[in-house]
Amino acid sequence: MTGNREEEKKRAAFSAIDDLIREGRIFSGMKIGLGTGSTAMPAVQRLAERIADGSVSGIRAVATSFQTSIACEKLGIPVFSMNAKEIGGRLDLAIDGVDEISPQKHLIKGGGAALLREKIIAYNADIFVIVADSSKAVQMLGTGFPLPVEVVPEARVSAAASLAALGAKPVLREGVRKAGPVITDNGNLILDCLWPAPADGSAPFDPAEMESRINAIPGVAENGFFTRNPPAVYIAAADGSVQKR
Ligand code: 5RP
Repeated sequence: MTGNREEEKKRAAFSAIDDLIREGRIFSGMKIGLGTGSTAMPAVQRLAERIADGSVSGIRAVATSFQTSIACEKLGIPVFSMNAKEIGGRLDLAIDGVDEISPQKHLIKGGGAALLREKIIAYNADIFVIVADSSKAVQMLGTGFPLPVEVVPEARVSAAASLAALGAKPVLREGVRKAGPVITDNGNLILDCLWPAPADGSAPFDPAEMESRINAIPGVAENGFFTRNPPAVYIAAADGSVQKR
C-alpha cells in the first residue's frame, strides 16, 4: 500500500466517523456494525477515540470478522453477536470498507474474505456507510477486482463449475503464510471470480441480477456483490478532501 493510499483510507474513515457523530447518526446507546480491512480499522480506531473523549457512550458493536472483534477487544468497544438480545438481529448503522464501487453504488466486497458476515450486517442496518480511498471507484464491476464467492468446502468443485457456466473464471483463494486454501471465519472457502471484459466496453452483466443468480448455486454461502442497501459513501480524493456521495 502506498503512503498516500494509507493516508486516504484514514482520512475517509476519520471524516466519516466525525461527520456521522456530528449529524447524530452515530449516537449514544446505538447498535453499530463494524467492518473489516485497512479502511474499516481506522474507523474503529476513531470510534474508540470518540468514545474515550465522551462524544458517545453505551455503544453496542457487532464485528464482521475476527480482525474486527480483536480490534474492538483491544480498544475497549463492547462486541455482541447479531443474535444477542442486546442486538436483536438489527443495527442502527453499519460502516465498512469496499473493494470496488460503481456509479450506481453497487459494490464488490470480500477482499478480506469477510463478505458473509459483512453482508449480514450491511443488509440488516438502517444506514449503511462505506469508507474508501480514491482507487475504489470504477465504471463497472466484475472485470477488474475478482468477485469473492464463499462456498462450503464440499461444494468447491461443483460451485466452481456453476460459476464458470455464468461466464466467470473462478480461482480458489490460497492462504498467505498458510499452506493450502484460505479458510474463512465461518470455515468455508473463497472462489475469486473474474469475468472477461466485453470487447465493446459494455458491462458483462447486471450485478443485482448476478448477486441473486450466484446465491442460488448449491453450496454458495454468499457472494461479494452488495446491491441492495445503497450506502452513504465517504471517498477520499487525491486533493486532500473527502467526498460524500
Ligand atoms: C473485507 C472487505 C474490505 O472492506 C475490502 O476488502 C476493502 O479492504 P481495504 O479497506 O483493506 O482496502 O470487504 O472482506
